[in-house]
Amino acid sequence: MPNVSAISSSSDRPVRIGLLGCGTVGQAFARTIAEQGATIARASGRRLEIGPVLVRDANRRRAGVRPAQLTTDPQDVLSDPDVDVIVEVMGGLEPTATYLRQALQAGRPVVTANKQLLSRHGAELLTLAETSGTELRFEASACAAIPVIKVLRESMLAAEISALTGIVNGTTNYILTEMARRGLSYAEALTQAQDLGYAEADPTEDVGGADAAAKMAILASIAFHTNVHFDDVAYEGIDGVHAEDLELARDLGFVVKLLGVARLADGGISVRVHPALVPEHHRLAAIMGSDNAVLLESGTVRQIMLVGPGAGGTETASAVLADVLSILGTAKGSFLQNALVDAGRPLLDPDQTESAFYVRLKVADRPGVLAQIATVFAEAGLSISSVIQRGEGDAARLVLVTHVGSEARMNSAVRAMREMPDVRGEPVLLRLLAEDVG
Ligand SMILES: NC(=O)c1ccc[n+]([C@@H]2O[C@H](COP(=O)([O-])OP(=O)(O)OC[C@H]3O[C@@H](n4cnc5c(N)ncnc54)[C@H](OP(=O)(O)O)[C@@H]3O)[C@@H](O)[C@H]2O)c1
Repeated sequence: MPNVSAISSSSDRPVRIGLLGCGTVGQAFARTIAEQGATIARASGRRLEIGPVLVRDANRRRAGVRPAQLTTDPQDVLSDPDVDVIVEVMGGLEPTATYLRQALQAGRPVVTANKQLLSRHGAELLTLAETSGTELRFEASACAAIPVIKVLRESMLAAEISALTGIVNGTTNYILTEMARRGLSYAEALTQAQDLGYAEADPTEDVGGADAAAKMAILASIAFHTNVHFDDVAYEGIDGVHAEDLELARDLGFVVKLLGVARLADGGISVRVHPALVPEHHRLAAIMGSDNAVLLESGTVRQIMLVGPGAGGTETASAVLADVLSILGTAKGSFLQNALVDAGRPLLDPDQTESAFYVRLKVADRPGVLAQIATVFAEAGLSISSVIQRGEGDAARLVLVTHVGSEARMNSAVRAMREMPDVRGEPVLLRLLAEDVG
């Protein structure tokens, strides 16, 4: 059965790839292999060829693949004795997980681009790869073309990462960029993103923060050598961010970004996704449009930031191909295998995570209201660093920025403000990018 070492012992024949899925990424992958075949062979000493290809509709033509290669029977790919590497670009949890278990159990190396699957079953599949003496690689599952997983698990293996802060969803970054740049409302910017193909028809996973949470679970697992499951990541999306907040943030010297924030603190890990105010001179503030960026911090190497396209067929296919080449490169000496080692670090209580907060309120325009609000913050144990107050008829818009405090303290202040007769409507709450980042 073809495992990593078997690939190296048969270098006279092409490396045969079994493809699970042939949509946007699968076809781009097949095209790249056809177009870059000579370069790949020169660099790796091996020729790659696409073998059987699993799809749902075998009657539809696919770029870079002959109709005879298409099948709707997964066993044509999974049980083909001549397939050396399985590339999974079909997505979803099932039947995908079942197919990958079968491939790994048979000792076949697997490359996947599937963040949903990795963020939920990554630890189990990596363990299976380990016990079967093969490899599971997943570079394209987080930030597509940006080689962040390779950097974390190879280049920075011993760098003791202390924080990983990322803009890991291109759709939301595009929407926030257009809202800030052109004064569009959230709904207008979302429609524009959909028209230009940056957002899906159903954008829930992106704008609600789940897509970024899945990527952060994968990145934090590798950065901190600890299994972080999708369910361990607390997330919020951008659907509650108003154009008004972007404008007020700008007046205060910030831009609003959807951030993934993973930190090592007090020996534990916290991983969150939420909209955050980023100081306008911070390097993450400069990431515009659909680009992604990941800022890695470590006592050893200080800061490293990786920036690039976080989606797209050819971009994602390039990361998938890099994984296949890494497997071929590690076949002989096996200098790197599966990098997830469980150090057993606890996940911290989300209520105890700390940040500074931006709070926007509508209040009755009467003397003494500001003092009452200040008392609420003081009683919650939060100190205020700046205040903006603007009149609006018989009401006033009040924006307060706090110093760093815990989620629990802020929640208690919000509960108290909701009880105040002079506070109208729901307080709007955003977090600031922590002052010690960058
Ligand atoms: N597109 C991107 O920019 C991007 C970026 C990063 C990561 N990814 C990840 O890459 C993976 C693929 O994405 P994609 O955009 O290429 O998706 P896609 O265009 O929807 O393609 C999915 C392919 O898988 C096949 N497929 C799906 N379910 C199947 C099943 N149960 N049995 C057999 N075949 C099945 C489909 O067959 P039919 O064609 O016959 O329907 C199609 O060929 C996903 O995990 C995605 O999250 C994508």
